[in-house]
Amino acid sequence: MGRYRNLVVVAGARPNYMKVAPLLRELHKHPDFFHTRFIHTGQHYDAGMSDVFFQDLEIPLPDQFLGVGSGSHAEQTAKVLVAFEQVCLKEQPDLVVVVGDVNSTMACAITSKKLCIPVAHVEAGLRSGDWTMPEEINRVVTDAISDLLFTPSRDGDQNLLREGIPAERIHFVGNVMIDCLLEQLPKIETRDTLKQFGLEADRYATLTLHRPSNVDVPSVFTGIIQVMLELSKLLPIIWPVHPRSRKMMEQLGLMHQIEGSQGLRLTDPVGYLDMLALNRRARFILTDSGGLQEEATVLGVPCITLRENTERPVTIEAGGNRLVGNHPDSIRSAALSFLSANNHAIRIPEFWDGKAAERIVAILMRFES
Ligand code: UD1
Repeated sequence: MGRYRNLVVVAGARPNYMKVAPLLRELHKHPDFFHTRFIHTGQHYDAGMSDVFFQDLEIPLPDQFLGVGSGSHAEQTAKVLVAFEQVCLKEQPDLVVVVGDVNSTMACAITSKKLCIPVAHVEAGLRSGDWTMPEEINRVVTDAISDLLFTPSRDGDQNLLREGIPAERIHFVGNVMIDCLLEQLPKIETRDTLKQFGLEADRYATLTLHRPSNVDVPSVFTGIIQVMLELSKLLPIIWPVHPRSRKMMEQLGLMHQIEGSQGLRLTDPVGYLDMLALNRRARFILTDSGGLQEEATVLGVPCITLRENTERPVTIEAGGNRLVGNHPDSIRSAALSFLSANNHAIRIPEFWDGKAAERIVAILMRFES
């Protein structure tokens, strides 16, 4: 029996950074209790997909960068397994903390557990029920082998209990990503992001797309782009393009269709603060991201989710998120209805209050292994 003091915290890809930022900040408040090492697997590596988030969120530089890079699921996962095993053998942590649902999350959880090192999963219990999503596999596997499961919403607890996870391992702590948002929000007051992009508050929409189900199937991706071109005649749409989507657009020869458009404005991926500034003043957000559905909810901005399902049903119950799938007709009709309505009553889910990391660290401090 003992306390968890010697920690390794892992991040791998863009949606992980806003989850580890508040956690590391909170852990570093207790240097006498925790010895924390921070590892970046390098699943994402471009400056725009990684470095800018470290600067915006003031995340300390990783103690080790594993540089695994891109590849097929098998290649990427395998590279993390091999590289992270060396980290564990060298550091001998008594707890590995993983966040989210990317390939690095699952790979680091497996590596640790096979070395008999306990694992804590932050953002545990989310389920879309969609087994074609690589993230769903990552979530289920990670949760099945984690010793401490920190859930962002109560549906997460229910999902885990249903899968047979013992209740004493499950801790409902709230949403660390919202800790990050609430902490960073004051910084955007003085930012001129809208001016830079030539946009006026409330008179544009933001778009993000990167799910394989939307961008890897040519007929689907082409249909989405057509409806965006159409909608952008009614209100400008700013679209920071994910590398996966850009690659597909180039392969499919779609770039030339967009280049002539005044309304559909493409840009490279933007950092956390610019994205927050863009989302905060958008009329609505069009996205297939999980995190953006949560951020939209807390910002009180309507969200049109281009998916058939969500692992974040709490954002729908809160009133601001609508699942529309990826058919152009349903995207168009949701956008038109949000354009004609002005008042959107959106509730903030329980414990999305900026204190999730604090709750996690309090639990870690009193936990006896
Ligand atoms: C990954 C996550 C997904 C998350 C998303 C956020 C998995 C299974 N997927 O998807 O859950 O929502 O990140 O962005 O873990 N690329 C670059 N530069 C980079 C990173 C990627 O150019 O810094 C390109 C590469 O061509 C790569 C492609 O983007 O092949 C896809 O990257 P990958 O990490 O495999 O998956 P994402 O689609 O980013």
